[in-house]
Amino acid sequence: MSGVGPIRTADRATIEAAASRLKAGGLVAFPTETVYGLGADAANGEAVAKIFAAKNRPGFNPLIVHVRDQSEAAEHVRFTPPAEKLAETFWPGPLTLVLERRDDCGFSDLVSAGLPTAAVRAPNHAIAQNLLRAAGFPIAAPSANRSESVSPTRAVHVRESLGTRAGMILDGGACALGLESTVVDASEYPVRLLRPGGIPIEKLRAICECADDTREQSDRPRSPGRMLRHYAPALPLRINCENPPKGWAYLGIGPDRDHPLTKNLSEGGNLNEAAANLFAMLRELDKGEFSGIAVAPIPREGLGAAINDRLSRARTEPRQKRSRSD
Ligand code: TXA
Ligand code: MG
Repeated sequence: MSGVGPIRTADRATIEAAASRLKAGGLVAFPTETVYGLGADAANGEAVAKIFAAKNRPGFNPLIVHVRDQSEAAEHVRFTPPAEKLAETFWPGPLTLVLERRDDCGFSDLVSAGLPTAAVRAPNHAIAQNLLRAAGFPIAAPSANRSESVSPTRAVHVRESLGTRAGMILDGGACALGLESTVVDASEYPVRLLRPGGIPIEKLRAICECADDTREQSDRPRSPGRMLRHYAPALPLRINCENPPKGWAYLGIGPDRDHPLTKNLSEGGNLNEAAANLFAMLRELDKGEFSGIAVAPIPREGLGAAINDRLSRARTEPRQKRSRSD
């Protein structure tokens, strides 16, 4: 194989090898027309957890899922009429649509960080498209850089930022745009711009009404953190809990303890497996006949830091039980 270190020239054989890697639950960095992405099988929670570990993200932000086209996306998310028009106009291209997950959505819950929506986009890049075709499934991929550093627009940038953590880096030269995709929440009407990017809002507004959620509102600028809603269960949630109250579900990790767990994030104490199970298990417990959800202490090393971050954001105790819609 050609290339330096984990960098590989993206020919037919290396794209096949990259697809095999993805099928086996591994990571592959690949070029798109915007920036390089760090990809994993979107349906495989443990593979998606590896993305967060490699990027060293302090928390679980939802990721963009790359699809071949609108019909592949429509198998997983619900297209609204404006979303259909936007996809018809701008796909393949630098537009990401946040849409409601279908009940039979095949993406892991970790991809959505537990939210009822998922972000999808069809990249306009031959290597990305060939990889999607060779894999045969949608690929979750944030920008292929360590958290808090700039997005990579060349294969060497990926290597500098992630080194061997990227697994394999498909080299497609420089990205044509070098700027991330525009992110639009099209799950409701009117659609809302969440992140400016490759496609300017004026072009979106030529297609449908589009509110700008990135602009200053009143006297305070909106922080990216406020633009993104985070998952929180409807039941009260207590963390670092050694003694679960009576009637509460008990979520934990590792081998048995004094109090039996209702659900175990990972019997073997594997934090990667725990991350992959986190949102799905919270969701399941939230639907059960419990007075609340108590979570046992979770180790803070590796992905444990992100798990703890997410749990502390989702914590509702000692607030009142809220309605599921807020
Ligand atoms: O150009 C791009 O978009 C690149 C290439 C690789 O496609 N990807 C990228 O991904 O920039 P990332 O993870 O760095 O940024 C994803 C953005 C974040 O701002 C995230 O908050 C938002 O999309 N996002 C993803 N899912 C969302 C959801 N369900 N609701 C709201 N925002 C979401
Ligand atoms: Mg990024």
